[in-house]
Amino acid sequence: MGRPTTPRPPAVPDMKTGTDLAAVLPMTAEVKDGHLFVGGVDTVELARTQGTALYVMDEATIRHQLREYVRWTRYHWKDVDVVYAGKAFMSLAMCRIVAEEGCCLDVSSGGELAFALRAGFPMERIYVHGNNKTDQELAECLDAGVGRIVVDSFEEMERLSAMAEERGKRQRILIRVTPGIAADTHSYIQTGAEDSKFGFGMNEGLAMRAIKRALELPGLDLAGLHMHIGSQIFALHSFSKAIEVIVHFMDEVRTETGYVVRELDTGGGLGIAYGLPDEPSTVKDYGKVIVDGIKEHVEEHGLPVPRMAVEPGRSIVANAGVTLYTVGAIKEIPNIRTYVAVDGGMSDNIRTSLYDAHYEALIANKADQPREMVATVAGKHCESGDIIVNDAPLQCPEVGDILCVCATGAYCQSMSSNYNKQVRPAVVMVNDGEARVIVRRETYDDLMKCEVG
Ligand SMILES: Cc1ncc(COP(=O)(O)O)c(C=O)c1O
Repeated sequence: MGRPTTPRPPAVPDMKTGTDLAAVLPMTAEVKDGHLFVGGVDTVELARTQGTALYVMDEATIRHQLREYVRWTRYHWKDVDVVYAGKAFMSLAMCRIVAEEGCCLDVSSGGELAFALRAGFPMERIYVHGNNKTDQELAECLDAGVGRIVVDSFEEMERLSAMAEERGKRQRILIRVTPGIAADTHSYIQTGAEDSKFGFGMNEGLAMRAIKRALELPGLDLAGLHMHIGSQIFALHSFSKAIEVIVHFMDEVRTETGYVVRELDTGGGLGIAYGLPDEPSTVKDYGKVIVDGIKEHVEEHGLPVPRMAVEPGRSIVANAGVTLYTVGAIKEIPNIRTYVAVDGGMSDNIRTSLYDAHYEALIANKADQPREMVATVAGKHCESGDIIVNDAPLQCPEVGDILCVCATGAYCQSMSSNYNKQVRPAVVMVNDGEARVIVRRETYDDLMKCEVG
């Protein structure tokens, strides 16, 4: 099993206050009068008015990250699409921000496409993913006029071509290939290795066969290739290696078929700081490695520079978000650990149970106090594995405190569930001292809206 983040020594009280947690908090976070503020809004007050559990997203951080990607990719090459991976966090408000920043959007289901459509997102800027798109989803994509569909199997290719022809269209596609690189990250979020449910492997000739077939099919306009080697990747050399392999393959494709790849999408995957010891690469360094890497290798092979795309998800939204909970119970098991139970859990953040993710936490109403103990933040679900933060430094908690878990903007709300018939929390976007609810809290009626009889 790979490692999700930097290996962690056993937790000890670290005496850090909210101010010392800047690396894992939204860029607007500050401590005022002992409270944690995000986007100029008092999170303790927010918890009081909106209730908990509550997701809080900082608009300034999201826009800043999108702009960083645009800046540091286009700095090296003019033709780069920054494609936000909607799976990390998707809402109508988020789609609109992505559109306003001039970026593209990656959707991986009919549902995500429906959000983009409802938000008025420009369809030519949509990239569609999925290893098993249904006929209905493909039809929805064709009818909506999406820019690119990333094809993942031979079956899909045949179906898509036929459906496009029926509509008198040629759909622009990319073919997803797996470069055989095991990225330096947790095995559950590695996707670029040869043994993957995604894409066409290169070694067995599958990817070459896929290209030849795509070139024959009348309903398809093959624009190029796509790869995504995994997520939460710290080591940029994993990307460099994958680029070297895929550009070499582009050369083989030209030799064998005469076809020259016009577009190359290198996927997402840049890691972020969940814990204070984490030192992810910067977007600036990532942009250089990806864009210069592609340019350098295509030049070596005498290929033209393709239009490029990168698909960041986590690194756009993870550090923009925090989750607020109310402490309901504190259970000290002598010589073992202290559990702090909160009013949420694996239904709003599955990442800790799913792949042993690590988070930093603080008490939002004691943000100026040092984290002088170590505690485990437990959820309220009927599972022992329902832990949100394993053994981490924390200010001394009391019942009624507002506990803030940092860096929860990615893959928390989007992976949330109604386990135990828990209603999903609201999402509040904060900016310049204003807070607006962008997703309201679910109600019991919402839980029952699909019940029949
Ligand atoms: C195809 C594809 N692109 C982009 C992403 C986004 O990755 P990340 O959130 O690590 O940037 C994913 C995530 O799994 C993905 O599957």
